[in-house]
Amino acid sequence: MIEDETIRKAAGRLLAWYEAMGVDAALADEPVDWLARGETAPGARFALPGMATAPETAPGPPAARPGAAPAPRPPLNARPPTTTRPARQFPAKAPAAGDAAPDVAGVANLAELKARLMAFEGCGLKATAKNLCLYRGAETAPLMIIGEAPGREEDLEGKPFVGRAGQLLDKMLASIGMDETNTHITNIVYWRPPGNRTPTPQEALACRPFLERQVALVRPKVVLALGGASAKHLFDAADGIMRIRGKWRELNIGGTSVKAMATLHPAYLLRTPAAKNMAWRDLLAVKAELK
Ligand code: URA
Repeated sequence: MIEDETIRKAAGRLLAWYEAMGVDAALADEPVDWLARGETAPGARFALPGMATAPETAPGPPAARPGAAPAPRPPLNARPPTTTRPARQFPAKAPAAGDAAPDVAGVANLAELKARLMAFEGCGLKATAKNLCLYRGAETAPLMIIGEAPGREEDLEGKPFVGRAGQLLDKMLASIGMDETNTHITNIVYWRPPGNRTPTPQEALACRPFLERQVALVRPKVVLALGGASAKHLFDAADGIMRIRGKWRELNIGGTSVKAMATLHPAYLLRTPAAKNMAWRDLLAVKAELK
């Protein structure tokens, strides 16, 4: 009995630790043994030009010269060195066929884009996500919303903005007479980052060729970036969202130039309702532009 109680408490502490680390959903019945993957990082098969790659082998002690005397044995009571253990390295693999930046220029529609993304191994987020989240809404639309990254609900459902932030987004859109029939909703990355962290610039860049083709297929009149991560990635801006938001820009993407603006993310508005007036002003500007 006491043992059961001890195990129950230990399991509770373990679960609390997982939750604190951002592991807040069970995605499969069986646990994944990540160590069985060996030294290959998820997404390591693909490197964009300019992306740093890890050295082929982890740095270790220098190899002995042929014929050199063997290194003296350490005394039996020597403590194991604490600083010489190399950091875990993921070796860069020689690119295999199909590992180059994806050429999606010939992709004719969103169904084909989805199939290409399902086969794409160039973004590490895919390894820990349950589902691909490509878009929801209209296939071609005057308004294209580009958020940051799928969250838990989105990952489970395989669609962007279906959780609480998405419900607020739908209300914001309704306030300017827009809905899923005339709006295309997506994100700068197509898979949920573990623990809902912000996607890294590399992850966004890995997805970028697909996003560019998506914009070309949707043919929006206006692109609305939601939140700082999306705005920074799309507009290559260093400023924070409060400075970026509410200004019209020409976004050169997918071979065309589109009018674009950034506004506050609905998840931020849920936490900070006092900021809604700024988002409202931005939405009115979008509405005027769409007329
Ligand atoms: N937040 C985002 O940026 N995108 C989603 O799809 C959901 C929440």
